[in-house]
Amino acid sequence: MIPIARPVIGEEEKQAVLAVLESGMLAQGQQVRAFEEAFAEYCGVKYAVATSSGTTALHTALLAHGVGPGDEVITTPFTFIASANSILFTGARPVFVDIEEDSYNINPTLIEEKITSRTKAILPVHLYGNPCDLEAIMTIADRHGLIVIEDACQAHGASVHGKKVGSFSTGCFSFYPTKNITTAEGGMITTNDDGVAERARLIRQHGMRKRYYHEVLGYNFRLTDIQAAIGLAQLGKLPEWTAKRIANARYLTERLPNVVTPTVRDGYVHVFHQYTIRVNGDRDAAVEKLNAAGIGTAIYYPIPVHQQPVYRQLGYHDSLPVAERVSRQVISLPVHPALTLAELDRIVSEVNRL
Ligand SMILES: Cc1ncc(COP(=O)(O)O)c(C=O)c1O
Repeated sequence: MIPIARPVIGEEEKQAVLAVLESGMLAQGQQVRAFEEAFAEYCGVKYAVATSSGTTALHTALLAHGVGPGDEVITTPFTFIASANSILFTGARPVFVDIEEDSYNINPTLIEEKITSRTKAILPVHLYGNPCDLEAIMTIADRHGLIVIEDACQAHGASVHGKKVGSFSTGCFSFYPTKNITTAEGGMITTNDDGVAERARLIRQHGMRKRYYHEVLGYNFRLTDIQAAIGLAQLGKLPEWTAKRIANARYLTERLPNVVTPTVRDGYVHVFHQYTIRVNGDRDAAVEKLNAAGIGTAIYYPIPVHQQPVYRQLGYHDSLPVAERVSRQVISLPVHPALTLAELDRIVSEVNRL
């Protein structure tokens, strides 16, 4: 089976972990600081604050921006549930806006009709590694005095006209094993805002600047030095892996004329966390055939967030037709940097045989 994702852990990561284990300093320390500095530089921002996951990065970023009970946060229904749940964790309410037909990202032309006096923030998601229309979203946010928190959990290194995602406002990244780089579990907040960075550091560590003096309500959302050491080694390889993902995606797109392939706007760099096609007809049968032929697939995501049972129980009954339709049509194919040419050719021939 050609797997849908294959984390690449080499000698450098193993040696880095061993060095941390031998140092005896395992929790958040030197390695975390070094990883934060390197990641901030990579994204072109002043600060990066490491957290225990992408979910806790989003939760912390929202809290650091003062989002809380009574607030509304506009987001996309077509995402991993953590994007919306992180809003609920703060006591605020996610408000869903339908997606674009081509990018599958939040549709900026539909945002303004959902803005109310309670709207505090917009939380767009760069789905599959494809940047949102950030220029339009930032313009709307500026016009209405709203905060923007980018969910860049799938989009390490993606950019719009040369500017990396996560640097337009406050960004949140995940380092889960399937992501473009991994720390096993881990997350990162990126920002140019001194106050947000400072509050995020407090919130991830029980509101504590000075030992056992707790200024605000905080959590244990820390990354460990073991994880940060892996992250530092992975970050060095990210540009090469991203180039390979983009090349693999191009190879597939040039050879798959019969399905809807991903679109990339002029001036946008899509980093292909996922390579996602759309099929008409029986998707389950298509997935079954591909799997039987040894092609790993995944459905991101089969049910939009507003239709998930937990959101139904919360009283969500929106009608978001594009997200609902697209969620029944998408199939993600392997695109990771460890794919060989022979594997790419197998994917092409099996998809074209459908
Ligand atoms: C779009 C999106 N948001 C948030 C998350 C949450 O990240 P994590 O799994 O590291 O908590 C993920 C990762 O799965 C994601 O894909």
